[in-house]
Amino acid sequence: MQHNTVLITGASSGLGRALAQTLARPGRTLWLGGRNTARLEETAQHCISRGAAVHLNICDVTDTAAMTQWVHGTGGVDMVLACAGITGGTRRPTGMDSAASEPQAQIRRIFATDLTGVLNTVLPALELMQGQPRAADGMRGRICAISSVAGLVSFPGTPSYSAAKAAVDRFMVATGGNAKKAGILLSSVVCGFLDTPMVARNTFPMPGLTDVNSACRRILRGLARNERRITFPLWLAAGSRLMDLLPITLAEAYYNNQPAGAPGSMPEPDLS
Ligand SMILES: NC(=O)c1ccc[n+]([C@@H]2O[C@H](COP(=O)([O-])OP(=O)(O)OC[C@H]3O[C@@H](n4cnc5c(N)ncnc54)[C@H](OP(=O)(O)O)[C@@H]3O)[C@@H](O)[C@H]2O)c1
Repeated sequence: MQHNTVLITGASSGLGRALAQTLARPGRTLWLGGRNTARLEETAQHCISRGAAVHLNICDVTDTAAMTQWVHGTGGVDMVLACAGITGGTRRPTGMDSAASEPQAQIRRIFATDLTGVLNTVLPALELMQGQPRAADGMRGRICAISSVAGLVSFPGTPSYSAAKAAVDRFMVATGGNAKKAGILLSSVVCGFLDTPMVARNTFPMPGLTDVNSACRRILRGLARNERRITFPLWLAAGSRLMDLLPITLAEAYYNNQPAGAPGSMPEPDLS
Protein backbone atom coordinates (compact mmCIF):
# COMPACT_ATOMS: atom_id res chain seq x y z
CA MET A 1 0.00 0.00 0.00
CA GLN A 2 1.28 3.47 -0.89
CA HIS A 3 1.00 6.06 1.86
CA ASN A 4 0.38 9.02 -0.40
CA THR A 5 -2.20 10.64 1.87
CA VAL A 6 -1.62 10.81 5.62
CA LEU A 7 -3.74 12.46 8.33
CA ILE A 8 -2.08 13.29 11.65
CA THR A 9 -3.61 14.71 14.85
CA GLY A 10 -1.33 16.45 17.35
CA ALA A 11 0.84 17.64 14.46
CA SER A 12 1.59 20.99 16.14
CA SER A 13 4.05 19.52 18.64
CA GLY A 14 6.21 16.61 19.76
CA LEU A 15 5.64 13.21 18.23
CA GLY A 16 2.88 14.23 15.79
CA ARG A 17 5.05 17.04 14.46
CA ALA A 18 8.10 14.76 14.15
CA LEU A 19 6.06 12.13 12.28
CA ALA A 20 4.68 14.76 9.90
CA GLN A 21 8.15 16.14 9.19
CA THR A 22 9.65 12.68 8.69
CA LEU A 23 6.86 11.61 6.35
CA ALA A 24 6.93 14.83 4.30
CA ARG A 25 8.13 14.23 0.74
CA PRO A 26 7.16 15.11 -2.83
CA GLY A 27 4.00 13.32 -3.93
CA ARG A 28 2.61 12.97 -0.43
CA THR A 29 -0.35 14.94 0.91
CA LEU A 30 -0.47 15.58 4.65
CA TRP A 31 -3.63 16.54 6.53
CA LEU A 32 -2.37 18.01 9.79
CA GLY A 33 -4.48 18.77 12.86
CA GLY A 34 -3.83 20.69 16.07
CA ARG A 35 -5.18 23.58 18.12
CA ASN A 36 -2.25 26.00 18.17
CA THR A 37 -2.26 27.80 14.81
CA ALA A 38 1.28 29.19 14.98
CA ARG A 39 2.89 25.87 15.90
CA LEU A 40 0.81 23.94 13.36
CA GLU A 41 1.88 26.40 10.65
CA GLU A 42 5.53 25.90 11.64
CA THR A 43 5.10 22.14 11.12
CA ALA A 44 3.41 22.82 7.80
CA GLN A 45 6.22 25.10 6.58
CA HIS A 46 8.78 22.42 7.34
CA CYS A 47 6.71 19.76 5.55
CA ILE A 48 6.18 22.01 2.52
CA SER A 49 9.91 22.71 2.36
CA ARG A 50 10.41 18.94 2.08
CA GLY A 51 8.05 18.80 -0.88
CA ALA A 52 4.76 17.63 0.66
CA ALA A 53 1.34 19.14 -0.05
CA VAL A 54 -0.21 20.22 3.25
CA HIS A 55 -3.75 20.93 4.48
CA LEU A 56 -4.21 22.29 8.01
CA ASN A 57 -7.11 21.85 10.39
CA ILE A 58 -7.32 23.84 13.61
CA CYS A 59 -9.59 21.60 15.57
CA ASP A 60 -10.13 20.11 19.02
CA VAL A 61 -10.15 16.30 18.88
CA THR A 62 -12.92 16.24 21.50
CA ASP A 63 -15.31 17.82 18.96
CA THR A 64 -16.92 14.72 17.41
CA ALA A 65 -18.80 16.53 14.63
CA ALA A 66 -15.81 18.63 13.55
CA MET A 67 -13.49 15.62 13.56
CA THR A 68 -15.92 13.53 11.50
CA GLN A 69 -16.29 16.34 9.00
CA TRP A 70 -12.52 16.78 8.75
CA VAL A 71 -11.73 13.09 8.25
CA HIS A 72 -14.49 12.57 5.68
CA GLY A 73 -13.63 15.89 4.03
CA THR A 74 -10.23 14.55 3.00
CA GLY A 75 -12.01 12.38 0.45
CA GLY A 76 -9.73 9.43 1.25
CA VAL A 77 -6.62 8.71 3.33
CA ASP A 78 -4.06 5.91 3.25
CA MET A 79 -2.81 6.36 6.79
CA VAL A 80 -4.12 8.04 9.96
CA LEU A 81 -1.88 8.72 12.97
CA ALA A 82 -3.81 9.67 16.13
CA CYS A 83 -1.13 11.46 18.15
CA ALA A 84 -3.07 14.20 19.99
CA GLY A 85 -2.98 13.73 23.73
CA ILE A 86 -2.44 15.32 27.12
CA THR A 87 -1.19 14.02 30.43
CA GLY A 88 -1.46 15.01 34.06
CA GLY A 89 -0.57 13.69 37.50
CA THR A 90 -1.91 14.06 41.00
CA ARG A 91 -1.88 17.13 43.25
CA ARG A 92 -0.12 17.08 46.60
CA PRO A 93 -2.34 16.55 49.66
CA THR A 94 -3.58 19.89 50.98
CA GLY A 95 -3.58 18.95 54.69
CA MET A 96 -2.95 16.23 57.25
CA ASP A 97 -6.28 14.55 56.55
CA SER A 98 -6.18 14.59 52.74
CA ALA A 99 -4.50 12.52 50.05
CA ALA A 100 -2.97 13.10 46.63
CA SER A 101 -5.67 13.34 43.97
CA GLU A 102 -6.41 14.39 40.40
CA PRO A 103 -8.74 17.37 39.93
CA GLN A 104 -12.09 16.24 38.49
CA ALA A 105 -11.81 18.63 35.54
CA GLN A 106 -8.44 17.12 34.65
CA ILE A 107 -9.80 13.56 34.84
CA ARG A 108 -12.62 14.46 32.47
CA ARG A 109 -10.32 16.34 30.09
CA ILE A 110 -7.80 13.49 29.90
CA PHE A 111 -10.50 10.94 29.09
CA ALA A 112 -12.10 13.34 26.59
CA THR A 113 -8.81 14.00 24.78
CA ASP A 114 -6.90 10.74 25.09
CA LEU A 115 -9.83 8.34 24.67
CA THR A 116 -12.79 10.13 23.06
CA GLY A 117 -10.37 12.19 20.95
CA VAL A 118 -8.79 8.99 19.61
CA LEU A 119 -12.22 7.49 18.88
CA ASN A 120 -13.20 10.74 17.16
CA THR A 121 -10.21 10.19 14.86
CA VAL A 122 -10.27 6.42 14.44
CA LEU A 123 -14.02 5.81 13.94
CA PRO A 124 -14.56 8.18 11.01
CA ALA A 125 -11.27 6.92 9.54
CA LEU A 126 -12.52 3.32 9.71
CA GLU A 127 -15.77 4.39 8.06
CA LEU A 128 -13.97 6.29 5.33
CA MET A 129 -11.45 3.55 4.61
CA GLN A 130 -14.16 0.88 4.36
CA GLY A 131 -15.31 2.68 1.20
CA GLN A 132 -11.81 2.88 -0.32
CA PRO A 133 -10.64 0.35 -2.91
CA ARG A 134 -8.14 -2.31 -1.84
CA ALA A 135 -4.52 -1.68 -2.92
CA ALA A 136 -2.32 -4.34 -4.53
CA ASP A 137 -1.52 -5.77 -1.06
CA GLY A 138 -5.26 -6.13 -0.30
CA MET A 139 -5.30 -3.26 2.17
CA ARG A 140 -7.51 -0.16 2.08
CA GLY A 141 -5.75 1.87 4.78
CA ARG A 142 -3.86 1.96 8.03
CA ILE A 143 -4.67 3.60 11.37
CA CYS A 144 -2.29 4.02 14.29
CA ALA A 145 -3.09 5.43 17.75
CA ILE A 146 -0.53 6.42 20.36
CA SER A 147 -1.04 4.66 23.68
CA SER A 148 1.70 4.47 26.35
CA VAL A 149 3.57 2.14 28.66
CA ALA A 150 1.54 3.96 31.34
CA GLY A 151 -1.45 2.03 29.98
CA LEU A 152 0.14 -1.27 30.99
CA VAL A 153 -0.12 -0.51 34.71
CA SER A 154 -2.46 1.02 37.30
CA PHE A 155 -0.02 3.84 37.97
CA PRO A 156 -1.13 5.88 41.01
CA GLY A 157 0.82 8.93 39.74
CA THR A 158 -1.30 9.28 36.56
CA PRO A 159 -4.56 7.35 37.10
CA SER A 160 -6.66 8.86 34.28
CA TYR A 161 -3.81 8.85 31.78
CA SER A 162 -3.05 5.17 32.52
CA ALA A 163 -6.72 4.26 32.17
CA ALA A 164 -7.30 6.20 28.94
CA LYS A 165 -4.12 4.80 27.34
CA ALA A 166 -5.02 1.25 28.42
CA ALA A 167 -8.42 1.65 26.75
CA VAL A 168 -6.87 2.96 23.53
CA ASP A 169 -4.39 0.09 23.36
CA ARG A 170 -7.00 -2.59 24.07
CA PHE A 171 -9.41 -1.09 21.55
CA MET A 172 -6.85 -0.84 18.75
CA VAL A 173 -5.37 -4.29 19.31
CA ALA A 174 -8.71 -6.04 19.90
CA THR A 175 -10.37 -4.43 16.86
CA GLY A 176 -7.30 -4.97 14.68
CA GLY A 177 -7.92 -8.62 13.81
CA ASN A 178 -11.36 -8.08 12.32
CA ALA A 179 -10.36 -4.76 10.76
CA LYS A 180 -7.52 -6.49 8.92
CA LYS A 181 -10.03 -8.87 7.29
CA ALA A 182 -11.83 -5.77 6.07
CA GLY A 183 -8.55 -4.43 4.66
CA ILE A 184 -7.67 -1.93 7.38
CA LEU A 185 -4.52 -2.31 9.49
CA LEU A 186 -4.70 -1.01 13.06
CA SER A 187 -1.73 -0.40 15.34
CA SER A 188 -1.24 0.78 18.89
CA VAL A 189 2.02 2.41 20.00
CA VAL A 190 2.98 1.47 23.55
CA CYS A 191 5.95 3.75 24.17
CA GLY A 192 7.78 4.98 27.25
CA PHE A 193 8.89 8.56 27.91
CA LEU A 194 9.63 10.64 24.76
CA ASP A 195 11.57 13.90 24.92
CA THR A 196 8.72 16.14 23.78
CA PRO A 197 7.20 19.31 25.29
CA MET A 198 4.70 17.04 27.10
CA VAL A 199 7.34 15.92 29.59
CA ALA A 200 9.83 18.80 29.38
CA ARG A 201 8.74 20.27 32.72
CA ASN A 202 8.56 17.00 34.67
CA THR A 203 10.68 17.31 37.81
CA PHE A 204 11.77 13.66 38.03
CA PRO A 205 14.26 11.52 36.08
CA MET A 206 12.49 9.66 33.25
CA PRO A 207 13.81 6.12 32.79
CA GLY A 208 14.31 5.17 29.15
CA LEU A 209 13.62 8.70 27.82
CA THR A 210 13.71 8.32 24.02
CA ASP A 211 14.46 11.11 21.58
CA VAL A 212 11.50 11.89 19.40
CA ASN A 213 13.25 11.15 16.09
CA SER A 214 14.26 7.66 17.24
CA ALA A 215 10.65 7.14 18.37
CA CYS A 216 9.46 8.22 14.93
CA ARG A 217 11.76 5.76 13.19
CA ARG A 218 10.66 2.93 15.51
CA ILE A 219 6.98 3.69 14.88
CA LEU A 220 7.37 3.90 11.10
CA ARG A 221 9.39 0.66 11.07
CA GLY A 222 6.66 -1.05 13.12
CA LEU A 223 4.00 0.20 10.73
CA ALA A 224 6.01 -1.01 7.72
CA ARG A 225 6.13 -4.44 9.38
CA ASN A 226 2.39 -4.35 10.08
CA GLU A 227 2.94 -4.67 13.85
CA ARG A 228 -0.39 -4.54 15.68
CA ARG A 229 1.34 -3.31 18.84
CA ILE A 230 4.55 -1.26 18.52
CA THR A 231 6.33 -1.38 21.87
CA PHE A 232 9.47 0.44 23.08
CA PRO A 233 11.60 0.41 25.13
CA LEU A 234 10.95 -3.31 25.52
CA TRP A 235 12.59 -3.56 28.97
CA LEU A 236 10.27 -0.87 30.35
CA ALA A 237 7.18 -2.53 28.89
CA ALA A 238 8.27 -5.96 30.14
CA GLY A 239 8.94 -4.56 33.64
CA SER A 240 5.54 -2.86 33.62
CA ARG A 241 3.79 -6.09 32.61
CA LEU A 242 5.51 -7.88 35.49
CA MET A 243 4.56 -5.11 37.94
CA ASP A 244 0.96 -5.54 36.90
CA LEU A 245 1.09 -9.20 37.98
CA LEU A 246 1.95 -8.21 41.56
CA PRO A 247 -0.71 -7.78 44.25
CA ILE A 248 -2.03 -4.22 43.95
CA THR A 249 -0.75 -3.10 47.36
CA LEU A 250 2.78 -4.29 46.57
CA ALA A 251 2.90 -2.58 43.18
CA GLU A 252 1.41 0.57 44.71
CA ALA A 253 3.97 0.62 47.54
CA TYR A 254 6.74 0.42 44.93
CA TYR A 255 5.29 3.18 42.74
CA ASN A 256 4.60 5.45 45.71
CA ASN A 257 8.32 5.36 46.53
CA GLN A 258 9.44 6.35 43.02
CA PRO A 259 10.21 9.96 42.09
CA ALA A 260 8.35 9.49 38.77
CA GLY A 261 4.72 10.41 39.17
CA ALA A 262 5.06 11.74 42.73
CA PRO A 263 2.23 14.18 43.54
CA GLY A 264 2.97 17.63 42.11
CA SER A 265 5.90 16.43 39.99
CA MET A 266 4.16 17.04 36.63
CA PRO A 267 2.73 20.32 35.33
CA GLU A 268 -1.07 20.42 35.34
CA PRO A 269 -2.51 20.25 31.80
CA ASP A 270 -4.09 23.27 30.18
CA LEU A 271 -7.83 22.64 30.56
CA SER A 272 -8.95 25.60 28.41
N1 LIG B 1 5.99 12.40 25.64
C1 LIG B 1 5.89 11.21 26.25
O1 LIG B 1 6.68 10.86 27.15
C2 LIG B 1 4.84 10.24 25.79
C3 LIG B 1 4.94 8.91 26.22
C4 LIG B 1 3.97 7.98 25.80
C5 LIG B 1 2.95 8.39 24.99
N2 LIG B 1 2.87 9.69 24.60
C6 LIG B 1 1.75 10.09 23.75
O2 LIG B 1 2.25 10.58 22.53
C7 LIG B 1 1.28 11.47 21.96
C8 LIG B 1 1.98 12.74 21.53
O3 LIG B 1 2.42 13.42 22.70
P1 LIG B 1 3.69 14.36 22.72
O4 LIG B 1 4.64 13.79 23.67
O5 LIG B 1 4.10 14.67 21.33
O6 LIG B 1 3.06 15.64 23.42
P2 LIG B 1 3.01 17.18 23.01
O7 LIG B 1 4.32 17.63 22.49
O8 LIG B 1 2.44 17.86 24.20
O9 LIG B 1 1.96 17.21 21.81
C9 LIG B 1 0.61 16.93 22.05
C10 LIG B 1 -0.16 17.24 20.81
O10 LIG B 1 -1.54 16.92 21.07
C11 LIG B 1 -2.34 18.01 20.64
N3 LIG B 1 -3.56 18.11 21.44
C12 LIG B 1 -3.69 18.02 22.77
N4 LIG B 1 -4.98 18.17 23.12
C13 LIG B 1 -5.67 18.35 21.96
C14 LIG B 1 -7.02 18.55 21.66
N5 LIG B 1 -7.97 18.59 22.60
N6 LIG B 1 -7.38 18.69 20.36
C15 LIG B 1 -6.46 18.64 19.38
N7 LIG B 1 -5.14 18.45 19.61
C16 LIG B 1 -4.76 18.30 20.88
C17 LIG B 1 -1.48 19.23 20.86
O11 LIG B 1 -1.98 20.25 20.04
P3 LIG B 1 -1.89 21.82 20.47
O12 LIG B 1 -0.54 21.99 21.12
O13 LIG B 1 -2.01 22.51 19.15
O14 LIG B 1 -3.01 22.04 21.40
C18 LIG B 1 -0.12 18.71 20.41
O15 LIG B 1 0.01 18.80 19.02
C19 LIG B 1 0.21 11.68 23.04
O16 LIG B 1 -0.90 10.86 22.76
C20 LIG B 1 0.91 11.22 24.30
O17 LIG B 1 0.01 10.80 25.29
C21 LIG B 1 3.79 10.63 24.96
